[in-house]
Amino acid sequence: MSPLKPRLEHLPPDLVCLTDYEPYARERLDDNAWAYLHSGAADELTMARNREAFARLQLWPRLLRDLARGHTQQELFGQTLDHPLLLAPVAHQGLYHPAGELASAQGAAALGAPLVVSTLASQPLEAVAQAAEGPLWFQLYFQPDRDFTLSLVRRAEAAGYQALVVTVDAPIFGLRNREQRAGFHLSPGLEAANLRSMAPFQPAPLGPGERMVFQGLMAYAPTWADIAWLRSQTALPLLLKGVLHPGDALQGEALGVDGIIVSNHGGRTQDTVPPSIQALPRIATALEGRLPLLLDGGIRRGSDVFKALALGARAVLIGRPYIYGLATAGALGVAHCLKLLREELEVVMALNGCATLADITPDSLFPDPAPPGP
Ligand code: FNR
Ligand code: LAC
Repeated sequence: MSPLKPRLEHLPPDLVCLTDYEPYARERLDDNAWAYLHSGAADELTMARNREAFARLQLWPRLLRDLARGHTQQELFGQTLDHPLLLAPVAHQGLYHPAGELASAQGAAALGAPLVVSTLASQPLEAVAQAAEGPLWFQLYFQPDRDFTLSLVRRAEAAGYQALVVTVDAPIFGLRNREQRAGFHLSPGLEAANLRSMAPFQPAPLGPGERMVFQGLMAYAPTWADIAWLRSQTALPLLLKGVLHPGDALQGEALGVDGIIVSNHGGRTQDTVPPSIQALPRIATALEGRLPLLLDGGIRRGSDVFKALALGARAVLIGRPYIYGLATAGALGVAHCLKLLREELEVVMALNGCATLADITPDSLFPDPAPPGP
């Protein structure tokens, strides 16, 4: 299936799990690109807790079942995916590889994983669609000019993107102190290609007593009314990304969105929000299976994927790990990361008596001796 397959054996033999790619990527990247990739908001507590929360959850194996007909297929928006793994939107991939998103798309296509292409991609969304045959979704950041926002949606529709992910947790970007200390900047030529034709944005000057955050940036940020408007403008499946509170998930449902991505942006936007895996069960309870839930934030192991599915996710996205793969070995590295994660998931399913993803339930996890309080 994959033209990349014969080359997998040329990768260093000590790359046997996703995190093995991290030191390889670090070696290949300058301090500037690394600071952008690796930073979390403020003290990076949420970023660390995303991982700790997965580590605390324990598997509870069931034995001796017949798994000979097992598989990892998942239905999502009318499509059958080979596995429940997607590549999360990550901006400015030209920082990590000369081909940027083109290489990510090729790696994703090799494993049949949807790639969510960021509004802030280094490559135009049409060029990414040309680069590979695999499924693509478009991640939308609302722009101050709503006509321009709509033109992005129309371009994604015309280029064959299959879903629209509206990121709602970063109306202003988080303060990533590590990145600030490193003086992160985008080198010339790496500006967001999809926004090139946008007229330069001139916010209205602030009046006396007006604040940059509220009357400046937030005056242009989307609200629920914009989600309702967007819903009326497109027939593509619409997902909200960055939801942590069941109330927001329910409000999205009421406006007709098709899915929710439970996410804290990999701990990059706001510090001390809960790990997404801890927020997931309450959202799953509120929605009672009416909308598919996806999750990202700290997924590094097949067992993490399994745990997210046990707590109500239909699929997961990975962010930083595939960028480590991209920086290390381009499309091949991206494909290899997906392959490693899928194989780990298969092993975890086998050792826990689950032939299909539908067999993974809350009962697949050992009950927490101290259930979290309200
Ligand atoms: C991101 N993320 C992100 N999300 C989004 O909706 N639009 C974007 O443009 C970006 N850009 C971006 C850049 C970089 C460098 C990173 C690391 C992340 C967030 C991303 O989609 C995802 O939510 C997290 O990366 C998931 O957490 P992990 O897998 O990195 O722990
Ligand atoms: C980030 C923004 C672009 O996380 O989403 O860097």
